[in-house]
Amino acid sequence: MKMDFSQFKREIYKRFGINLDGYKEKQLKRRIKSLMMSQGASDFGEYLKMLIQDENQWMKFLDKVTINVSEFFRNPDIFSYLENTILPESFEGKRQVKIWSAACSNGSEPYSLAMIMEDVFPGVSYEIIATDIDENILDAARKGVYDVRMLKNVTPRRLKKYFTQDDEGLYKINEDLKKNISYRKHDLLVDKYGMGYDLIVCRNVTIYFTKETQFDIYTKMNASLKPDGVLFIGATENIIQHRELGFEKISHWFYKKSAYLLQRGDEKNGQVIG
Ligand SMILES: C[S@@+](CC[C@H](N)C(=O)[O-])C[C@H]1O[C@@H](n2cnc3c(N)ncnc32)[C@H](O)[C@@H]1O
Repeated sequence: MKMDFSQFKREIYKRFGINLDGYKEKQLKRRIKSLMMSQGASDFGEYLKMLIQDENQWMKFLDKVTINVSEFFRNPDIFSYLENTILPESFEGKRQVKIWSAACSNGSEPYSLAMIMEDVFPGVSYEIIATDIDENILDAARKGVYDVRMLKNVTPRRLKKYFTQDDEGLYKINEDLKKNISYRKHDLLVDKYGMGYDLIVCRNVTIYFTKETQFDIYTKMNASLKPDGVLFIGATENIIQHRELGFEKISHWFYKKSAYLLQRGDEKNGQVIG
């Protein structure tokens, strides 16, 4: 059956629960089309059939849509700023903090955050909820085994303290660093958001979404933050409508929940993860 891209997206949502409407259409269509052709399907109807019948094809499709590129301490200067300025100010006086690493990919982001918590806030108890839409990448994150190329921003001291090298030269995260991290499947476009976060890290994923979807995501994240909570975004990202969304820009890439919209945020909050 011939079908256009809009129908294809509707079917994907109906059958697999993934909402492709929130993604920037041109980019997404180009990526899906190139994969579709390389797999020998000539139109979206035929391709949909392949995805339904062959789990391998579905995995490949998900891989193409999600783009899992990540690394430890991605943009190291920004992570240093987080570690040395933003967090000491925001976590001052706190005995316990809750962090959400949204779209965490292979775990390098939540593990980087855990290393900072261990090193800079030894007396603070912390919980990191790390979520992604892609189950396969979450499995890889739980295993925590990495090629040296992903570790170029990890200091030798941290490499020694938090990793063990195996016989093949791969680096495995020590079990102790995993104890405060829980990995869960969560779709930013479909699932409900948790609440009570001191810090939300959402980097290099909203770039794939439409402006309306970005607005919706940041509105929900605002509601998910504690009154003094901070949102940390990607190096190439910027929230232009931050005031309207209830954020105060504390510096580039860091936004704090503003006091005047607290009530609206608390009322709109959802519950599930966290
Ligand atoms: C480029 S990676 C970013 C990883 C990490 N945050 C970083 O900055 O290095 C994008 C991640 O977003 C995830 N993703 C894509 N669409 C998503 C959605 N709708 N909900 C949750 N995660 C999604 C992908 O599976 C992928 O792991």
